[in-house]
Amino acid sequence: MYKPAITGTGVFTPEQVITNAELVKAFNAYADRMNAENADAIAAGDIKPMEHSSEEFIFKASGIEQRFVLDKTGVLDPDVMHPLLRQRSDDEPGVMAEMAVDAAKKALAQAGKTAADVDAVICAASNLERAYPAVAIEIQQLLGIEGFAFDMNVACSSATFGIQAAADMIRSGSIRSALVVNPEICSAHLEWRDRDCHFIFGDVATATLIEREEDATGPHFEIISTRCATEFSNNIRNNNGFLRRSRPDGVADRRDMQFMQNGRKVFKEVLPMVSQHIAQHMADENVESDNLKRVWLHQANKTMNDFIGKKVLGRTPEPGEQPNILQDYANTSSAGSIIAFSQNSDDLEEGDVGLICSFGAGYSVGSVIVKRHA
Ligand code: COA
Repeated sequence: MYKPAITGTGVFTPEQVITNAELVKAFNAYADRMNAENADAIAAGDIKPMEHSSEEFIFKASGIEQRFVLDKTGVLDPDVMHPLLRQRSDDEPGVMAEMAVDAAKKALAQAGKTAADVDAVICAASNLERAYPAVAIEIQQLLGIEGFAFDMNVACSSATFGIQAAADMIRSGSIRSALVVNPEICSAHLEWRDRDCHFIFGDVATATLIEREEDATGPHFEIISTRCATEFSNNIRNNNGFLRRSRPDGVADRRDMQFMQNGRKVFKEVLPMVSQHIAQHMADENVESDNLKRVWLHQANKTMNDFIGKKVLGRTPEPGEQPNILQDYANTSSAGSIIAFSQNSDDLEEGDVGLICSFGAGYSVGSVIVKRHA
């Protein structure tokens, strides 16, 4: 048995930002237009008028202040209300592959490694640009990695499930190292015309290099233990996936083809599931909350994270103990906890123990207990 370790992480952040103010302005213009177009039906009581969104609500309900996206022009155009992502030819790199390669190069650089040191690529994400060939194999080819690659999808928990898959292969000796990449084009499956959820997501890609600990050449995080759990639920669901609305073939624009959630139920059902999962994982590994130096949680909602952080530590977390990035990135699905980890872990000291945890659709929850070696 070999010990796996996280030796590098990288984040690709899109250049374009949408603030809550910009988002609400576009949504309200769309709502006004829809209400004007449907004035007769509204007056007759056949349909309800669309209500305005508000910046105050978004911040209060979620803690989100802005989000990065690949294309803001389409999202903010009341005539479009979704990103305009050019359909690439089969000979060009896909969008997900391009984002993931950027993040992967940063992870390799941090670890002081090159493509030659990597044996496998796992592309773990909520929405895949196509069914096959696997996006991971395209990333493998673009990076010049030998070995193998495959895609997997466990929605918002994809990163931690991917880390477990990689860590298990490293432990068993079938590979020496793997890149787990999480390119999340959430803007392409968000329903930007739905007031209840239009503010939730952003785009990003993260990469995590996992190697045998004996191969680490710098500061790293030993993976002490991983744990995954799932329970079926329809409360977060997407029936058709990637940017269905941009199809020129006249396929009906059904609401269920984009992200749908019953946010209140998610709150009520996922919070106990995650708190119990983490508590049991820590107990089984003899990790006391007093000894947990940092918690990097899935980034969906600030209230949710405040609740979980308090449950896990048994007290209100001190600033920095449970870092949030959702105010800047919004919910980036599987990438969220890895952004938080990547941007808030360098200062930990030799022997410090931390926990990465993601959760979401499925339902799914995955946790990774790590120990810093500085
Ligand atoms: N602007 C203004 N008001 C809005 C609004 C908007 N954009 N969207 C909803 N509202 C209103 C609703 O109409 C409702 O009004 P009412 O009380 O008069 O009926 C009110 O705000 C409360 O709505 P509710 O859905 O109960 O809000 P909430 O506090 O639960 O927050 C979420 C909504 C989605 C942010 C929250 O439930 C959440 O984050 N859930 C879990 C999300 C999650 O983890 N998802 C996983 C995805 S990976």
